[in-house]
Order: sequence, then C-alpha cells, then structure tokens
Amino acid sequence: MCILEVQNIVAGYGRVNILHGVSISVGGTEIVTVIGPNGAGKSTLLRSVFGLITPREGRIIFNGEDITGSNPSALVAKGLAYVPQDKNVFPSLSIQENLEMGAFILKGGCRSRMEVIYELFPWMRDKRHVKAGDLSGGQQQMVALGRALMLEPRLLLLDEPSAGLAPNMVSEILEKVKQINSAGVAVLMIEQNARKALAISGRGYVLAMGRNEFEGTGSEMLNNPEIGRLYLGG
Ligand SMILES: Nc1ncnc2c1ncn2[C@@H]1O[C@H](COP(=O)(O)OP(=O)(O)OP(=O)(O)O)[C@@H](O)[C@H]1O
Ligand SMILES: [Mg+2]
Repeated sequence: MCILEVQNIVAGYGRVNILHGVSISVGGTEIVTVIGPNGAGKSTLLRSVFGLITPREGRIIFNGEDITGSNPSALVAKGLAYVPQDKNVFPSLSIQENLEMGAFILKGGCRSRMEVIYELFPWMRDKRHVKAGDLSGGQQQMVALGRALMLEPRLLLLDEPSAGLAPNMVSEILEKVKQINSAGVAVLMIEQNARKALAISGRGYVLAMGRNEFEGTGSEMLNNPEIGRLYLGG
C-alpha cells in the first residue's frame, strides 16, 4: 500500500513550470530517494507534496486521500513532516526549544515524545539548552530531523539531509534515517550523496529537467552503468 502517490504533477513559480508531469510513489514502510542534477526540480517536488506550492495539474494522494492543494499545517496534522534544504532549525533557540516548536500543535505536553528523540540522538540530551546555531552542521541536521519527528509523522520528506557534511557525518545521518524508517516512518528523500542514499533505499528515481528520467530499486540504480556515469560520479 502506498502512503504517497504523486500523479503527473505540473508545478512551478510564477508563470514558469518547473515540473512537467512528475509521478512518484512511496510505500508505507519504504525509503525512496530522488536524485538528479542541480535545478532538476527536486526541491520543487517536495515543496509541492508539502503544500508550499499548489500543482497546476495532477494529483497528490496521501494515505488514500487526495491532498492536492492542502496547506502545510493541514498536512502536518495528517502525518506529513518536512525538513527543508536550508534554514531548517531556529538558530537562536535551544535544541529543546527547537523540538518544542516541532510539536506546537500538540495541546498537551510533548515530554514523552522528546524522550523518544533523545533516545535516537543521545548527545542532544546533555546539550538540550545549547542554541542550535552553535552546533555543527551535522548536529543541526539531526535537530531538524528530531523536530520533524515530534508529531510522529507517517511520512518524512527530507531535502538533502546530508548536504555539505563530512563523509563520516553523511553516513551517520543516513544511518539515523534508516533507524527512523525501521521504527515505521516512510521516507521520501532527496540526496546528492546518491550512492550512500541509494544503499539504504528500497527504490529511487532520477529527476532531470522536471521529468521522470529513470526509476528502479536502490540496487538497480547503483548497478546501472549509465546512472553511475551520469549521476553517481562514475
Ligand atoms: N522560489 C522560486 N522562484 C522562482 N524560481 C525558483 C524558485 N525556487 C526554485 N526556482 C527555480 O526552479 C528550478 C528548480 O529548482 P529546485 O530548487 O526545485 O531544483 P533542485 O533539483 O532542488 O536543485 P538543487 O540540486 O540545486 O537543490 C531552478 O531553475 C530554480 O532556479
Ligand atoms: Mg534542491
């Protein structure tokens, strides 16, 4: 059963279309990675799914329900979470405050949920009063992941969670993504560290110039010579 089906969406900014009929799906327990060149429309795809842009054509189905045109807060309530490519933490707020911001729509307390996040990222507990802006890039990405997990989403949308990080930190972040997925959260992720991302993904897509270029299992993509040459750095 698919948690997400993006069906032939056309979307863009102003009068310009960036996505020219893109379709992807994510299974209920899957990690799916989208790769592709700069400017292909990968972030635009995630923004469309999260309701930050309304597609001009096509439909988006989440958990069996047509969510095309729904706004982000409605989608958060339905179980979607999104970690954008940039500016995904509040730098002047502490780790704990960042996590609390992730749970802003909860009426009751969020202590127990915060415990789950601290179990996933044990280093955060001691540093919970440190400002997010004072953390390393990798730590900030983990805070952003933690914040997104505060409302127990069914599907996590991640836009380049390991961008700009050192190789060992890239592996650590992707290991966390794998753990999050093992706990029952579906993941739709964009990654430039394509080899490492595809290695933990059930399936992947190549998006180029706003169109589906290729799709396959993670291993099919890793073993495809043309994908390797064009998109995986040889
Ligand atoms: N807010 C915006 N207004 C106008 N054009 C935009 C906006 N955001 C992105 N674009 C344009 O849309 C196209 C696709 O951008 P997008 O960010 O979706 O690509 P991407 O595949 O995520 O690229 P990258 O790998 O660099 O993150 C680019 O040509 C970009 O200049
Ligand atoms: Mg992008």
